[in-house]
Amino acid sequence: MTGKTKIAIFASGSGSNFEALEIACREGELDAEIALVMTDKPASFVIERARQADIRGVALEPKAFPTKQAFEEALLAILREAGVEWIVLAGYMRLIGPTMLAAYPSRIVNIHPSLLPSFPGKDAIGQAVAHGVKVTGVTVHLVDEGMDTGPILNQAAVPVVEGDPEKTAQAIQKTEHVIYKETLQKLFKPVPANN
Ligand code: GAR
Repeated sequence: MTGKTKIAIFASGSGSNFEALEIACREGELDAEIALVMTDKPASFVIERARQADIRGVALEPKAFPTKQAFEEALLAILREAGVEWIVLAGYMRLIGPTMLAAYPSRIVNIHPSLLPSFPGKDAIGQAVAHGVKVTGVTVHLVDEGMDTGPILNQAAVPVVEGDPEKTAQAIQKTEHVIYKETLQKLFKPVPANN
């Protein structure tokens, strides 16, 4: 027994958040063990990052299954066999279905690049820039059946760099890499209240 929380990270893209969490685990800032990285997109760069970090990568494509339920049941078998306690979504661009939600009630966490409930869904940064908001940010929340809904655990504001969506995205990413590890650490290892 290591006393570390066993997590699976789900990602569909580049995996910079995975990498930040992996470093936090290695450096003792996050008391967790990444049992595996799951992607629904086998060609995504996160799988290469997992390989470099010597972490098991699992690619499972929903289209290989007749139903979403069958996909999630196959995924659950892998998670259970690996002893996964919490699921951490890091750029996973797919809704979690009832099968997974029932198996991990209030144990699935997501990070989203906006101050929810503003700008849920895809391209949250583009949505914020298009609306001309001056401040956007990052939200970490528990996952429910909705799209980027569910109880909010933490938020951080990030100013929009006017006329420069690329710089805004970089600032958001930098904030994500800090807020996610800090929020997860508090979630997994709550500091006991002093009476
Ligand atoms: C992150 O900005 C994350 O917040 C976002 O995808 C990006 C993944 O980046 N997630 C969502 O939009 C979820 N609705 P990464 O692959 O470099 O970690």
